[in-house]
Amino acid sequence: MNTRNIFFILGFLFLDGLLQCMALRKTYDFVLQETNFTRLCSTKSMLTVNGKFPGPTIKARKGDTIFVNVHNQGNYGVTIHWHGVNQPRNPWSDGPENVTQCPIKPGTKFTYEVIFSAEEGTLWWHAHSDWTRLSVHGAIIILPGPGKSYPFPKPFKQETIVLGSWYKQDVPEMLTNVLKGVIPNVSDAYTINGQPGDLYNCSNDSTYRLKVKFGKTYLLRIINAVMNEENFFGIANHTLTVVGQDGAYIKPITTDYILITPGQTMDVLFTANQNLSHYYMAASPFFDSVVAFDNTTTTAIVQYYDGKYTPPPTPFFPNLPFYNDINAAINFTNRVKSLATDAYPANVPKNITTQLFITVALNRILCPNNSCLSPTGDGPLDNKQSSSLNNVSFATPQVSILDAYYRGLSNVFVGDFPSQPPNFYNFTGDVSGVSLFTESGTKARFINYGEAVEIVFQGSNLQFAETHPLHLHGYSFFVVGTGFGNFNNETDPLSYNLVDPPELNTVNVPRSGWVAIRFFANNPGVWFMHCHLERHATWGMDTVLIVRNGQSEDQKIRPPPANMPSCS
Ligand code: C2O
Ligand code: CU
Repeated sequence: MNTRNIFFILGFLFLDGLLQCMALRKTYDFVLQETNFTRLCSTKSMLTVNGKFPGPTIKARKGDTIFVNVHNQGNYGVTIHWHGVNQPRNPWSDGPENVTQCPIKPGTKFTYEVIFSAEEGTLWWHAHSDWTRLSVHGAIIILPGPGKSYPFPKPFKQETIVLGSWYKQDVPEMLTNVLKGVIPNVSDAYTINGQPGDLYNCSNDSTYRLKVKFGKTYLLRIINAVMNEENFFGIANHTLTVVGQDGAYIKPITTDYILITPGQTMDVLFTANQNLSHYYMAASPFFDSVVAFDNTTTTAIVQYYDGKYTPPPTPFFPNLPFYNDINAAINFTNRVKSLATDAYPANVPKNITTQLFITVALNRILCPNNSCLSPTGDGPLDNKQSSSLNNVSFATPQVSILDAYYRGLSNVFVGDFPSQPPNFYNFTGDVSGVSLFTESGTKARFINYGEAVEIVFQGSNLQFAETHPLHLHGYSFFVVGTGFGNFNNETDPLSYNLVDPPELNTVNVPRSGWVAIRFFANNPGVWFMHCHLERHATWGMDTVLIVRNGQSEDQKIRPPPANMPSCS
């Protein structure tokens, strides 16, 4: 071998080493700006980050801390949330509007400190004020820590798949009336990476395409950023292997379809092992209520690029479950188990010290002096659509709950969110004799540091029975049990999975059913908890858990950063 070759090989090794330990960025700049987009032959302006829809991807390693400078060059105040990032001791950077911060005003900036700890896999970030998350969201990829690898064979390539919603109309404008009682319009399309795909008008040319090589395995990082419906997703002729959910690995599941709720993220492997051709990947709604919803299907194309072949006139189409097939939804969901190995232990609380039983319901609420609009927007009305947790419809305050708690201000919220519903009725039976009406309040539930917490969410048939994806900030939790009907506190715990329950941040409360979650309250802070269907959250299906400080310094909320957006 001559010297030149040796140098070449050495150079190659050096470069390779460099790439492997290449430092990821620690600082990001997010510029919020109005941007014009054309979809479905209609153009509108909407708020984006850096002019992109979906927005930029954040890439970190397990345990990293990153900083995101958010410059608001838009027309209204916005906050950003790092969905599924627990932010130990750092609720200041969590984001929900007027829960942990006031909005970043137009013309100002705020730097978020995003602290990764146990999370690994895929999460996402999104605006957490009004319905701005519609267009302001993006992926978070958390790679294994330095020197570590995936608990599955390294994929050939990875691709982020963001499911979204598209509205032709201006959504901030729509929301003004929704807050007065008008029922929001359904979206005009779902999107995959910002594109509706071939089944919609004017969309063929821009359909998202994923080119694959025969024999190779791909990791899809799938994020559900849809506003108001859950989704089934699949790829024609290809088996999916789900290996992670909500920033934690799971025992691999092979399946033809997944069910993914707004808020959830999944890491999915598939091998390009079919005939060279074109195949649709598709997402269609899972929706089990009787009200209007977007019953359309978004597609992208998985396209083999080796060899010469004639693609079919239309790509093969996946078989997805029918939109209201709750059994298909639950059959998938119930297969998810955490890895629960020495390297990825499942530290499930066994002896519960704080127990909450929370009903999840749709309601009506009174409006003084006919101050509301009818569901269709024509004419005043003395009541409007509402929703609640434990019959409290959350009223978002005008200033930050975290700030009020931290400074001991007493006029912003009350700490009396109940540990059980005020009235035990047959939640999942005949509710015709039960009042639909709820009351609003800005209530939080205090939890002492270190408690072993169990929350049972009980679905209700009030108004409309429906599946709800409940999300908790500041924690991931173990889903130890779920079932149909009313929760039975004697028999149901007997079938809990305390060995390898899935560890999630967003979980479905099944229609006319219940779900039980557990976690250790080891992250002091003010943590929002809400349904991740946007219209339900807007109507009041939210509350706040305040985990008190522990004894030692590393069990206390950190002091606020100097530059918190002002609330006046
Ligand atoms: Cu993904 Cu409170 O949010
Ligand atoms: Cu809901």
